[in-house]
Amino acid sequence: MALSTGSNKINTAIFISGTGSNLKSLIKFSKLKKSPIIIKMIISNNPQAKGLQYSKLCKIKKKIFDFKNILSEKKVIDELKKNNIDLICLAGFMKILSKRFIKSFKGKILNIHPSLLPKYKGLNTHEKAIKNKDKYSGCTVHFVNSKLDSGKIINQKKVRIYKFDTPKSLAKRILIQEHKLYPAAIMKMLNL
Ligand code: GAR
Repeated sequence: MALSTGSNKINTAIFISGTGSNLKSLIKFSKLKKSPIIIKMIISNNPQAKGLQYSKLCKIKKKIFDFKNILSEKKVIDELKKNNIDLICLAGFMKILSKRFIKSFKGKILNIHPSLLPKYKGLNTHEKAIKNKDKYSGCTVHFVNSKLDSGKIINQKKVRIYKFDTPKSLAKRILIQEHKLYPAAIMKMLNL
C-alpha cells in the first residue's frame, strides 16, 4: 500500500448514496487519536442522501455530482485532487466507478460490501443468502478494482443467519458489524 501516515493523517473522502451509517462510524473513528485518517469530504451522487446531514453536523465539506458520464467524473477527480485526497472510502455508494476513475486513485479506493465476498457480488445480497439457505453471511472490506466487488479483500466478518431472518433483519445485524469492520480494515491496510 503506497499510503504513508507519517505524522500527518491521511486525507480521506467518503462516498455515500443513502443513510450514511457507515459514514457516521468512520467519522467517529477518525476522531480517535489513534486514527490514521482525517475525513476531508463527503461526496454523493444523491442530493437526498440522508447521510449528507453529517456534513453540517460534523463540519465536513460535502459535494454532489451525478456521476452520469465521464465529464461529471472528471469534475469529481479534479475536486479530489484539489483537496489532496489520498484515500477514498465507498460507504453505501451505489454507483459503479469507471475504469479511468479507479486508475486515477489506484490502490487508494476501499469499499464495504454486505456479503462474504466472493459470494453475492452486486445487489440484494441478503435476499440471495437467505434464499440459498446459507448458514452465514456477513460483510467484506476490499480494495476497488475495475471488476465489480472483486478487488483484494482486506477483512471480513461472518454473521449467523437464523431461520427467522428476513433480508431486513439480517441487513440490520450485518450493518452493526460493518461499523466495526471498516475502521478495522483501514488499520489493517496500513499495518497499524
Ligand atoms: C451498507 O450495508 C453497505 O454495505 C451497502 O449499503 C449499505 C449502506 O448503509 N453497500 C452496498 O451494497 C454497496 N454495493 P449506510 O448508508 O447506512 O452506510
